[in-house]
Amino acid sequence: MKLPNLKILDEKNKTLRLKSQNVSFPLSEDDKKTIQDIIDYLTMSQIKEYYEKYNLRPGMGLAFIQLGMPKNIFVIVEEVDEEVFENYVIINPKMLSHSEELIYVGEGEGCLSVNRDVEGIVPRYARMTISYQDMDGNTKEIRVREDISVAFQHEMDHLNGILFIDKIDKKNPYKDKEKMREI
Ligand code: NI
Repeated sequence: MKLPNLKILDEKNKTLRLKSQNVSFPLSEDDKKTIQDIIDYLTMSQIKEYYEKYNLRPGMGLAFIQLGMPKNIFVIVEEVDEEVFENYVIINPKMLSHSEELIYVGEGEGCLSVNRDVEGIVPRYARMTISYQDMDGNTKEIRVREDISVAFQHEMDHLNGILFIDKIDKKNPYKDKEKMREI
């Protein structure tokens, strides 16, 4: 596999604060190529051989805005078994419903645009259902839970110009811990 040359914006870059816009169909060839590049990059970042070779930080999600493009598209690559990956390509997502239950990632969330460890709780819905369009423009619904629900909410925040670090209480990073379930 060849590592795609992606220029991922750093948290200080103001472009990350833009609100992304819906995209129309058919997708451009450029957008299709970018989607494939993101899938390849995220996959390679989770395989030891490649993350060691290229010195990559493992990541499971990336939104177009992190490459400087304010479009409502994100990709998630989940390792479902040893070096077996499942992709989600989510275009123009809309939240339809969510659980009342909140969860947070105990070891903290990470982001390919935030190149430092940040402690604290990021409250997320344990489950949610969204509608979105696939690469052919078909409208679909998906229900996600647990870590995938967290990943989807993290990426949907990117589309609204929000980073996970914004959601951590600066004075008390573990505020309301007892009201949520750690995953
Ligand atoms: Ni991120």
